[in-house]
Amino acid sequence: MSSSPIRDALANSDVLVTVGSGGVGKTTLAAAIALRAAMEGQGSLVCTIDPARRLANSLGLEALGNAETEISQQTFAKAGLAPKASMRAMMLDMKRTWDELIEKRAPPDKREKILNNRFYQSLSSALAGSQEYVAMEKLWELRTQRDYPLIVLDTPPTAHALDFLDAPNRILDFMDNDASKWLLTPALAAGKFGLKLFNLGGSYVAKTIARFTGTETLQQLADFMLNISGMNEGFKERAHQTRALLEAETTSFVLVTGPMPERLDEAVYFHTLLQQNKMRVAAIAVNRVHAPVPDALWEEVARLPSSLQKKFEDTLKENDHLARQDARGIAKLREACAATPMVIIPRFELDVHDLSGLYETSRWLWGEQRLEVATAGR
Ligand SMILES: Nc1ncnc2c1ncn2[C@@H]1O[C@H](COP(=O)(O)OP(=O)(O)O)[C@@H](O)[C@H]1O
Ligand SMILES: [Mg+2]
Repeated sequence: MSSSPIRDALANSDVLVTVGSGGVGKTTLAAAIALRAAMEGQGSLVCTIDPARRLANSLGLEALGNAETEISQQTFAKAGLAPKASMRAMMLDMKRTWDELIEKRAPPDKREKILNNRFYQSLSSALAGSQEYVAMEKLWELRTQRDYPLIVLDTPPTAHALDFLDAPNRILDFMDNDASKWLLTPALAAGKFGLKLFNLGGSYVAKTIARFTGTETLQQLADFMLNISGMNEGFKERAHQTRALLEAETTSFVLVTGPMPERLDEAVYFHTLLQQNKMRVAAIAVNRVHAPVPDALWEEVARLPSSLQKKFEDTLKENDHLARQDARGIAKLREACAATPMVIIPRFELDVHDLSGLYETSRWLWGEQRLEVATAGR
């Protein structure tokens, strides 16, 4: 059997998290891994965030919502697949998860007040880090209240892929910070807030408030802060629990990146951070790598009528250039992250948007298909 660090990781993991910067293929690879796990008999749930529409449709996720939807045998059969275990998919709905959180956590007499509070309504969609926090919150809920042999968690498309590590703390900071406390002080009611608010500068608090005008809003804010102030302990405890879950022996990460130079430094940085945070990185998945141009293709083009030759040759040369550039990137990454296995997935001609595409992708993740990386060249 071919070696595959991701397959090996799944043998010992019940949570797998794909991380990386936006657009690199986190959602696609998360779905491919969950699909493959189900094919091999490990029932799975993939929790996606912002999936491309066509992929969402193929996973049976038409409406937004936190519903865990089972992919039917029929759907699999149409793709020529017969999984040994079931696969479910869901789309994480940020707003709804926040609401559920408040419903569960807030004291009963305050729930409605918080949910109907205009500041809360804006905060729950705008708060920096709320996406990451919600993803962690959902993961915790799924892990503790459901019985999936494998949960594959996709992470939000942020510039800083590891924001989620920090998300629970940031929520706590927000609740603890001086600005929040200050907003609760009587000065607020006395209307002396103008200058102080200005001093908050570009903070999200100020930005969110800036969307509103008038004291009614500030009253809403003050109400909101009062209502949630009793929830701190709950959040703190949960922050520790999610943290422990991420560090658990049975949780693995797949760091997804592209081979382009601008992605690499980021990937190395994320890799270092994950390791510093005691997270297990099962593999670095380098996605959308240009395959080197096979010799046979060069030869074929050489045999074309000269009128066509030039055009095709130019295309091949461009491809060859990109393949070599990718190979250099991969070599650099290998050197910088020597301890972590790497899997390479080629750039497919088409988007990966259906079950058969996901399965095909998994064959590369599972090491059944391997890209011969171009000789780096200088
Ligand atoms: N290896 C690949 N070859 C071609 N297209 C890909 C590949 N991997 C991902 N894609 C496409 O790239 C787009 C972005 O991928 P996605 O998984 O949504 O990225 P992310 O979740 O990191 O933002 C999608 O349209 C997806 O189908
Ligand atoms: Mg995504």
